[in-house]
Amino acid sequence: MPIHVVVLAAGQGKRMMSDLPKVAHLAAGRPLIGWVLKAVDHLQPANVVVVVGHGAEHVQPYLPDGVVAAHQVEQLGTGDAARVGLGALPEVAADDTIMILYGDMPLLTGDLLGRLADRPADVAARMVTVEVDDPTGYGRVIRDDHGLVIEVVEQRDGDSSQLAVREINAGSYAFRAGDLIDALGSVSNENAQGEYYLTDVIAILVEGGKSLEPVEATPQEVVGINSQDQLSEASRLLHARNNRALMEAGVWMLDPDRTYIDDTVVIEPGARIYPGVHLEGSTTVAAGARVGPDVFAEDTSIGANSTVWYSVLRGATIGEECEVGPYASLRQGTVLERGAKVGTFVETKNTTLGEKAKAPHLSYLGDATVGAGSNIGAGSITCNYDGYEKHRTEIGEGVFIGSDTMLVAPLKIGDRAVTGAGSVITQDVHEGALAVERNEQREIPGYSDRRAERHAAKETED
Ligand code: UD1
Ligand code: CA
Repeated sequence: MPIHVVVLAAGQGKRMMSDLPKVAHLAAGRPLIGWVLKAVDHLQPANVVVVVGHGAEHVQPYLPDGVVAAHQVEQLGTGDAARVGLGALPEVAADDTIMILYGDMPLLTGDLLGRLADRPADVAARMVTVEVDDPTGYGRVIRDDHGLVIEVVEQRDGDSSQLAVREINAGSYAFRAGDLIDALGSVSNENAQGEYYLTDVIAILVEGGKSLEPVEATPQEVVGINSQDQLSEASRLLHARNNRALMEAGVWMLDPDRTYIDDTVVIEPGARIYPGVHLEGSTTVAAGARVGPDVFAEDTSIGANSTVWYSVLRGATIGEECEVGPYASLRQGTVLERGAKVGTFVETKNTTLGEKAKAPHLSYLGDATVGAGSNIGAGSITCNYDGYEKHRTEIGEGVFIGSDTMLVAPLKIGDRAVTGAGSVITQDVHEGALAVERNEQREIPGYSDRRAERHAAKETED
């Protein structure tokens, strides 16, 4: 039986206290709506419609191809949003299954949705319910004396005995299409919030003698995000889930509670991750690499058997057997080839270090290429910016840049050339040559003694 999915995501999420629509907030590297759609993917549904409204322009970019956006002009409640969503579905047969999900539930799993979708033909609705310690804010699932579900009562509409119920409506449903369409037609907005509640469909179906099945979930799967506080809790749970999956696949992690790896990141088994590591975007870590403690890496690839610690990497490509840090900042366009090293207090940008090239301490390398096996002495920098334009520095292979060399770009240093410590190099240096730019050292003999005598004479005067 074909499955059609409607995800409600038009609300503002007032309790987030943010201009961004709620479902566009990020948790562990994906927007909330992205997490829901990822779980939906497991169902291989015939159609997916996302109902957008408030801040639609911030939500739509997150909808993959094939997902249809339906616009709810005024946010009149989940029942109204469901109607808008159904209106955007192509031909649906009465016996098809329509699943309605909320876009603010990032912990939904493909497994749970799969169980929910498994609807016997004679069941009009299946809904996910779960017993929680603190049901505040959720719709309560009310059962009759025989334990059958008869209605869902919202927080704002419940009396004290209803609000004491700890079984909540998780907000994920699988309906027989014909029954949902009929029931939605009779939902009114006569309630405390003046909204059309999708949850009223439950009582309408029960009153119409239709059969209904609750589906159990764990409290963690159905965390709904209404506040920043819950967003942070969801991020924690999603990171923990991701870390568990990585460890099951063979990644070594010293302390998963202090390791933040976004869902978009790929880590090979055999990598070792220390605490304080944040990996984001398209970052990849190869087998045998050691990352951390304390690394932030975004859109960066870290090659096999490399070590990166106490450092920040953005848009960098680290080859195999490289060393980065401690305290290095690798910016966009940094490429380290096999065995290269960027050490303490070194910043790089748009720079390639060839095989086994090294910048071990206190350097800035911008818009540069450093050939294989070359060494950049402590304190040396590329002066790549003249106040108007950026210029390139090209350093050949086997070059020795002496400590504290200023390389004023544009500049070419030939293979095996050497620069003298403290030189300001403004002209190209030929292969194998030594370039020194330095004033002659002067020496004034006996200076210290004369200075001490002057000082002593002044003291007796006073
Ligand atoms: C809803 C349920 C509640 C359940 C809880 C689970 C209703 C009436 N209540 O309450 O029983 O326990 O979820 O998390 O359904 N939306 C629209 N258009 C609207 C209103 C909402 O698209 O006009 C979307 C929101 O963007 C959101 C979802 O529907 O993604 C749920 O809305 P929300 O206001 O968060 O409902 P809750 O009060 O949490
Ligand atoms: Ca909610």
